[in-house]
Amino acid sequence: MARNHSERRRGQNHPPVKVLNLYACLGGNRYKWDEVADIEVTAVELDPVAAELYAERFPNDTVIVADAHAYLLNNFQRFDFIWSSPPCPTHSRARFWRYGATGQKPSFPDMRLYEEIIFLQHHFKGKYVVENVIPYYEPLMHAQKRDRHLYWTNFPIPQKVSDRQKVDVCQGSEEMKRLCAYHDYDFTKYDGEQNRLKMARNLVYYEAGKRIFEAACGIIRKQDVHQLELL
Ligand SMILES: C[S@@+](CC[C@H](N)C(=O)[O-])C[C@H]1O[C@@H](n2cnc3c(N)ncnc32)[C@H](O)[C@@H]1O
Repeated sequence: MARNHSERRRGQNHPPVKVLNLYACLGGNRYKWDEVADIEVTAVELDPVAAELYAERFPNDTVIVADAHAYLLNNFQRFDFIWSSPPCPTHSRARFWRYGATGQKPSFPDMRLYEEIIFLQHHFKGKYVVENVIPYYEPLMHAQKRDRHLYWTNFPIPQKVSDRQKVDVCQGSEEMKRLCAYHDYDFTKYDGEQNRLKMARNLVYYEAGKRIFEAACGIIRKQDVHQLELL
C-alpha cells in the first residue's frame, strides 16, 4: 500500500520543523504545510473568533490569542521557520485610492511591517517570510512580487507560486463562492468583527503558502544533514 506523506517523511528521520505562523487568520498560507514536512505549528491571531475557527481547522496547532508583534519579539528563538502576515489595510492601494475618491481622513502606514522585516533579517537564525499587499508607495525594502503579494524572505522563493486564474476577481456572492471553493473553507462560519469578504480575499493562496514553505524546508533539511555530518 502507498505510504502517505508523513509516513514517508518519518522514514527520513527529519525532526519536526518548528513553525511560527503570525497573524494567522484562517490559515490560508498554512493549509497544505502538512504535505511538505512534519511540523509543529504555533499560530498567533488577535481576533478570538478567527483564532477559534483556525483551531478547529488545524486541531494539531497551538493557537494563541495575542498580539503577534509582541509575540515575535519574545519568542522568535524557539522556531525554525516564521511566516508573518502583518495587517495590510494601511499599505493597500485600494484603500489609498478610496481616500483620494471620498476625502476620508488618511492614516499613517503601519510600520510594524518594516520593524518585523528588519528584526528578522538581523536577529533570526532560521528562515522567514513576511508577506503583505503591493503598497501604494515604493516599498521601503526590496521585496519579491508574486501574484497580489510582496514577500520579504531570507531564501529564494519560486518564480511561480500559484495558479491565480482559479480565484480571478469577480463581484458579490459569486466572489465569495469562488473564494470558499478555492480555499476549501466555508467563510460564512465566521461571525466576528472583520468583514467576511475582505477577510476571505486577504487569505494567502494555499499554493503560494505551500510552494514557499517547500523552498524553506529544502534549505532547513540540508542544514540538518550538514549538522549531522559534523557530529
Ligand atoms: C491578512 S490576515 C492574514 C492572512 C493569513 N496569512 C492567511 O493566509 O490566512 C491578517 C490577520 O491579522 C490579524 N491581526 C491584526 N492585528 C493583529 C495583531 N496585532 N496580532 C495578531 N493578529 C493580528 C487580523 O485579525 C487578521 O486575521
